[in-house]
Amino acid sequence: MRSNEVIDEGTAYGRKPGVTNRDLTDTTPGTKMGDLLRRYWHPVGLAGDATERPKAIRVLTEDLILFRDKRGRPGLVYPRCAHRGTTLYYGKVEEKGIRCCYHGWLFDVEGHCLEQPCEPELGRHRDQVRQPWYPLEERYGLIFAYLGPAERKPKLPRWDVLEQMDADHTISASDHIQSGPKIVPCSWTHHYDNVPDHYHVPILHGSNSGVQFVEMMARMPQIDWEYTGIGVNTRARRKLDNGKTLLRITEGVLPNVRLIPDPGISRYGKSESVSWLLPVDDTHYMLYAALKMKPGWTRAFTRPAGKSWDEMTAAEHQQYPDDFEAQVGQGAITLHSEEHLATTDQGLAMLRRLLLKQAETVAEGGDPIGVSFGDDSVVATHAGNFLIDG
Ligand code: FES
Ligand SMILES: [Fe+2]
Repeated sequence: MRSNEVIDEGTAYGRKPGVTNRDLTDTTPGTKMGDLLRRYWHPVGLAGDATERPKAIRVLTEDLILFRDKRGRPGLVYPRCAHRGTTLYYGKVEEKGIRCCYHGWLFDVEGHCLEQPCEPELGRHRDQVRQPWYPLEERYGLIFAYLGPAERKPKLPRWDVLEQMDADHTISASDHIQSGPKIVPCSWTHHYDNVPDHYHVPILHGSNSGVQFVEMMARMPQIDWEYTGIGVNTRARRKLDNGKTLLRITEGVLPNVRLIPDPGISRYGKSESVSWLLPVDDTHYMLYAALKMKPGWTRAFTRPAGKSWDEMTAAEHQQYPDDFEAQVGQGAITLHSEEHLATTDQGLAMLRRLLLKQAETVAEGGDPIGVSFGDDSVVATHAGNFLIDG
């Protein structure tokens, strides 16, 4: 090295391996976040996914079998038959439940063993066998499951926007993000971080990939965040040419719910949809949504290059990246140690802090925020696109 040569440090050489804060991202039982997630109901399928043909699903890293008995009751059971462990995926669904293909043990939707056909009297001790199962409830066209401790099972929440229905309102349910595959190959937390991260809208959706929504959404907003008691609200204000202000409120509700008003701003008022980021496992998630609709209502759908997401070439995905590209681009699970959070990341820092605090509460034996054991109370939401003076 020459004596007057300046060494520019900060090359990629010698950098430390990145580390994930697993307390935020783990979904398995016995982990901080896995146990917190298990204190809430989660959508695990569309109503039509539970049929007389058993369906293998994965939820919070648990492999399970979803079915619907011939009386119409949905069931969710551990796959390995309580007799000798073959999978109930090959089971036959009957009036009263699902019958294992191997020796015919019959289990109802709550795992009770009703018959052991090879045993005397159809199994004198069948009452002592229970196929592990989880409770289900159906609402808004979705099937919700509770995978937590039975004695702490809360009420399945009702949401004001989905309960206040005009005569011509309908609710449609969906199980996939707009631009991307049904099962997204990254941690659910990447998308949850995105909920209060409204500053990405004018960049990712407003200039980098062209105007993906509408021109007013491409304007740089002024943003503040607030704790709501059940999550974090993001309040974004954009000055419009007519002197009015677009106030756009998006809402993150613990542990994995988001209320995102129509980014196409096709009308003003409260958001008409509630969506859930279902962790399939630590490195995959799905988006379930219930959307209130009326005849004539539309939602914005972006079609970069005039194509749907799966028709786009690799070069077009680079030219028009969307949320999928940005979030899967963070890796299977992001490396928190490599982040440099800035002032505009305040909202996601608040949401993460709240999640970790609730996980701590559960670890100490308490109940997290947002669960109700009493009345069928309705969750009051605030999300929407509002036109205000000034
Ligand atoms: S393994 Fe299921 S009945 Fe024997
Ligand atoms: Fe986005």
